[in-house]
Amino acid sequence: MIRVAVIGGTGTTGRLVLEGLTAMRGATPLCAARHPDHRPAGARLPRHDDPGSRPGVPGVEYRRLDVLGDRRSALAALEGIDWAVVCLGPFEHLRARAQELCIEAGVHYLDVNDSIDARRDTVALDGPARAAGVRVITGCGLCPGISTMLLGALAGRADWPVESVTSDLIVGAGQPVGAASLTSMLLSLTGEVRARRAGTVVRVPATVDRSVRVGGIRTRYLVGYECPDIDVVQRIVPGVSSYSYRVCFEQLPGFAVDLVHRLSEYGRGWGIGVSERGRARRARTVAALAGCAAGIATALNRRRGRQADPAVLSIALHGRDGQTLRGTVTGPSSYRMTAACALSVLRVVTEEVDRVPAGVSELDRLGQDHRAIWAELSRFGIDAPDITGSTRESAPMRTGKNDRQGDQSVTGVTK
Ligand SMILES: NC(=O)c1ccc[n+]([C@@H]2O[C@H](COP(=O)([O-])OP(=O)(O)OC[C@H]3O[C@@H](n4cnc5c(N)ncnc54)[C@H](OP(=O)(O)O)[C@@H]3O)[C@@H](O)[C@H]2O)c1
Repeated sequence: MIRVAVIGGTGTTGRLVLEGLTAMRGATPLCAARHPDHRPAGARLPRHDDPGSRPGVPGVEYRRLDVLGDRRSALAALEGIDWAVVCLGPFEHLRARAQELCIEAGVHYLDVNDSIDARRDTVALDGPARAAGVRVITGCGLCPGISTMLLGALAGRADWPVESVTSDLIVGAGQPVGAASLTSMLLSLTGEVRARRAGTVVRVPATVDRSVRVGGIRTRYLVGYECPDIDVVQRIVPGVSSYSYRVCFEQLPGFAVDLVHRLSEYGRGWGIGVSERGRARRARTVAALAGCAAGIATALNRRRGRQADPAVLSIALHGRDGQTLRGTVTGPSSYRMTAACALSVLRVVTEEVDRVPAGVSELDRLGQDHRAIWAELSRFGIDAPDITGSTRESAPMRTGKNDRQGDQSVTGVTK
């Protein structure tokens, strides 16, 4: 039995991971949270040690852990833990604090980080992690995570030089909304985002593209966004010089996106929020607004009792001579896909832990076979990638569960 602590297990993503862990054979789940009494969004279940009063996931031990708080009590909260699945947020703010604590406590670490800066801070901890014999796996959510594996699946099939990569995500409406995710989204929409142009990472003002098709679905808008895949794309797709990422949050009406975007453009024009202090003030204001908005959106969705709409991730490789190769993955909702990826990677790596080296790893460099992770993802209703376009004909990707036993069933084949 391994003991797995979900750090940030009271959050929207963390709660889903925690619930998934209770069903995972061989794992004893714990929740390590800043406010263990915080009602997990959407949960109406009694806390195991105090039935009837405080809600939580039954059968789960709750411990107090503030990663920015006292170091000694944080380390004490990690005692006896084998693996931590880290669903804190926003990572832009917390950076690599949880990683440092886990390395110091000798706890293996896996996260759903989606911040470029937190990823860079994590990669810089490779030396200490190796020295401590701790495995740190970063970027195991939807983007990066499923997106990183999809990039790998596409790269293996393009037999022409790839010039650029575009990654688009539709986040369906009707799901609980996490404050941390909403903060990241609003900061992108009101500020600058990083994209790769001519081989270099540059900052560009946030863009809003209207009426675009993503995986066959017409979206109202796509907002320029950031993803740590920007730092690994050249490793996965050799020779690529441009990368951009855009997201549509279907929950947000187009007019609201336009309004926020225009206001922030005017603000920048007037020099508001561009200085270091201005940015910090903007981040604080956005975090406070996001906290309220996330609570209202989650409550409204729950009251309406509507099912979450699926999330659609579509990545395209574009060739120098006009070729395009596109892969699309669809899943139950963006949060569920994020939690499913973390759980799938955890399951695969803990089954063959010796194949994961001590130090910092990312999904493109993990010793494990991605097919095993795709097979796990299929248990969560996440379709194998559907790949279309001009491709290498050989080696179709196999993602069926039976692949590990050599079954010939093939899904996600090139159309
Ligand atoms: N890779 C992907 O595709 C992907 C997708 C979705 C989300 N994410 C990322 O996942 C993270 C979680 O998102 P979410 O929307 O689920 O967030 P959320 O609902 O706001 O939950 C955030 C969690 O972090 C906890 N937390 C914050 N600061 C802490 C601290 N100092 N010490 C301990 N716990 C702390 C919060 O605890 P309190 O209850 O005490 O505030 C809460 O449990 C975010 O960073 C988000 O950007 C990644």
